[in-house]
Amino acid sequence: MRVDVLAGTHGSAIWIGNGIADRLASLLDEHGVGARRFVVSSPVIWQFHGERIQRALGAIEPILLPDGERHKNLQVASRAYEALIRGGADRGSAIVAVGGGVIGDSAGFIAATYLRGITLVQVPTTLLAQVDSSIGGKVGVNHTLGKNLIGAFHQPAVVAIDPLLLGTLPRREFRSGLYEVVKYGMIASRSLFDRIVANPKAIFARDPAVLTPAIVESCRIKADVVTKDEREGGLRRILNFGHTVGHALEAVTRYRRFRHGEAIAYGMLAAADLAVARGALADSDRQALAALITKLGPLPAIADLSIAEVLEAVRRDKKVVNGRLHFVIAIAIGSTITVDDVTEDELRAVLQRLGMTA
Ligand SMILES: NC(=O)c1ccc[n+]([C@@H]2O[C@H](COP(=O)([O-])OP(=O)(O)OC[C@H]3O[C@@H](n4cnc5c(N)ncnc54)[C@H](O)[C@@H]3O)[C@@H](O)[C@H]2O)c1
Ligand SMILES: [Zn+2]
Repeated sequence: MRVDVLAGTHGSAIWIGNGIADRLASLLDEHGVGARRFVVSSPVIWQFHGERIQRALGAIEPILLPDGERHKNLQVASRAYEALIRGGADRGSAIVAVGGGVIGDSAGFIAATYLRGITLVQVPTTLLAQVDSSIGGKVGVNHTLGKNLIGAFHQPAVVAIDPLLLGTLPRREFRSGLYEVVKYGMIASRSLFDRIVANPKAIFARDPAVLTPAIVESCRIKADVVTKDEREGGLRRILNFGHTVGHALEAVTRYRRFRHGEAIAYGMLAAADLAVARGALADSDRQALAALITKLGPLPAIADLSIAEVLEAVRRDKKVVNGRLHFVIAIAIGSTITVDDVTEDELRAVLQRLGMTA
């Protein structure tokens, strides 16, 4: 069992351990988390893991929010506020989010805003949530006009990461999270990258001996970056490696074609290609990334996507500052830099080489 404490305005204690979900009550007691705990989850997740969480936390009535990205919105949050008010939740109560990024982001937003903020605990149940969304304090919901437009920074008091909860995760969801682990390798750890290259079978089999250390290292990298730059002043941008093109791919396909990590996989390939074209990255490193992504499994097709639409989506993205495109590029496996002078022509060529023809 490992602990990672993340500083920032309010620290988070990040606990990672196989079976840690079973001792949630004592963990929360140790951290002085409110005696009244309101669990927020979804019917799908609760069906798999509800019994276990109930055994760990005592007889609790969960607030179940509908599953899926399209339900990450203010209407659903509002129903949760109602359940909290009716349940008598007060300033001393805590919200325990049990789920993937959708539940974690919504429940986190609810915790950030209910009574101007109550204690939040994250119990992430997808690989993506375990290595990324549960850490760092970004919480929020979608608006019909765009993703994650309504939100806050609200650090969880405790993040309890139990890799054994991933046993029930569909393979495609698992793979989606794995691309974020590849991202951590690309931005900060060649050895993490190499371990995924060497052990894909054990990882997909969710062998704790291989998977848990990879999760620990990913969390450490994210916690490190967030500790140094909670509000994305500069350093935190490196976490966006692969996300400029990735977000654009998600947007032009209306969040229907790709799981988040799949879009990021393409985004990383694009960022590596851009770096090679600029002479910043060795082509052998780009090839190693491409080979790993190919090895992990199939990605949805992109040949039919319109380059003009993707470029337009990139332009609309938050990462365009004063008309110039900030872009995180790799300079080696395990090392990235941010450049702020990427031109549209450059990016167009990258998208063509990536395989977009329309
Ligand atoms: N806050 C952040 O910093 C941050 C970072 C990255 C992503 N996000 C957000 O995360 C969300 C995506 O999260 P996600 O990829 O975890 O998707 P998700 O929450 O939609 O979960 C994916 C699917 O897996 C199911 N599921 C979850 N845990 C399971 C388990 N243990 N066994 C079986 N099924 C399980 C869910 O019911 C869902 O159908 C997006 O909304 C994104 O904006 C937030
Ligand atoms: Zn991501």
